[in-house]
Amino acid sequence: MSVRLAVDLGGIEMKNPLNTASGTYGFGWQFEGLYDVSCLGAITTKGCAAEPWDGNEPDRMADVYGGMINSVGLQNPGVRGLVATAGTYLADLSARGTAVICQVAGHSVEEYVAAVELFEELAPWAAGLEINISCPNIAQGGIAMGSTPEGASEVIRAVRPRTRRPLLVKMAPARVPEIARALEAAGADALTLINSIPGMALDVHTRRSKISRPTGGLSGPLCHAIAVRMVWEAAQAVSLPICGVGGVRSGEDAAEFILAGATAVSIGSQNLYEPDCAPRILAELAAWVEEQGATDVNELRGALLC
Ligand SMILES: Cc1cc2nc3c(=O)[nH]c(=O)nc-3n(C[C@H](O)[C@H](O)[C@H](O)COP(=O)(O)O)c2cc1C
Repeated sequence: MSVRLAVDLGGIEMKNPLNTASGTYGFGWQFEGLYDVSCLGAITTKGCAAEPWDGNEPDRMADVYGGMINSVGLQNPGVRGLVATAGTYLADLSARGTAVICQVAGHSVEEYVAAVELFEELAPWAAGLEINISCPNIAQGGIAMGSTPEGASEVIRAVRPRTRRPLLVKMAPARVPEIARALEAAGADALTLINSIPGMALDVHTRRSKISRPTGGLSGPLCHAIAVRMVWEAAQAVSLPICGVGGVRSGEDAAEFILAGATAVSIGSQNLYEPDCAPRILAELAAWVEEQGATDVNELRGALLC
């Protein structure tokens, strides 16, 4: 029996629920030699701002129990740089049936607006834009704007009139129900949660942080149970579709997000640990839908029994 896997993430048509988490998948082409990237329902590109950003000083990554801590700081080539280096590939990927979601970064409302306007002008192949109001590794913008309902909705209200494409919002792992409600009221089409969780990793011998800043973003398997709980909370609070992110290593992990109410699921750090994991996770997810006796993955969204 073959099962139906197509989903609609706030107006983004995906042939299956699998997406990739921004920052863990480059601009997609880097994975093309490992498997056919067009097997994915969508990819989400690294957060890009109107102008290039250098990111934080090294060291930027450290292994911790159950995952990793990063402080990349949203290094990116800017929207023009993304389009110049990867635009042809991404247009082709879109033509191959995989939705391309472009993530938007900014230090201020004005910078978010400028980046959205550039994507509008230069990236007609983008199926949707994901506004990142939750990066824990930049001093201004990011989580500083996304950690209150007022700050989060200010950004979305400003960018909403600049595009007719579906707008996703990448949420921080905090105050989820109230910020989700504010984002719904501000005009978001879908929510992506969670971004990495602020954490610390210290070298007790040198008494220094293992990365160049005191804190970084914790990601990987350790985040998964927290992320599932937050997706479930958001699904109770709003009627927007949700993309679940956090510690997905298997089809069962992805299925947990769907049972908790997610429409789509992104693979993040696992792309770094096991770069060819996506086709395996997709096959495992399809097998789970079939095992549940469903013919369509949409029957299982929010179907948690408890
Ligand atoms: C190296 C690295 C870079 C990341 N860069 C971004 C980014 O640019 N924008 C963003 O919203 N999230 C970024 N994230 C967070 C991931 O998209 C994801 O939300 C988080 O890692 C949790 O998922 P995971 O546990 O599956 O990795 C990054 C994560 C890592 C590990």
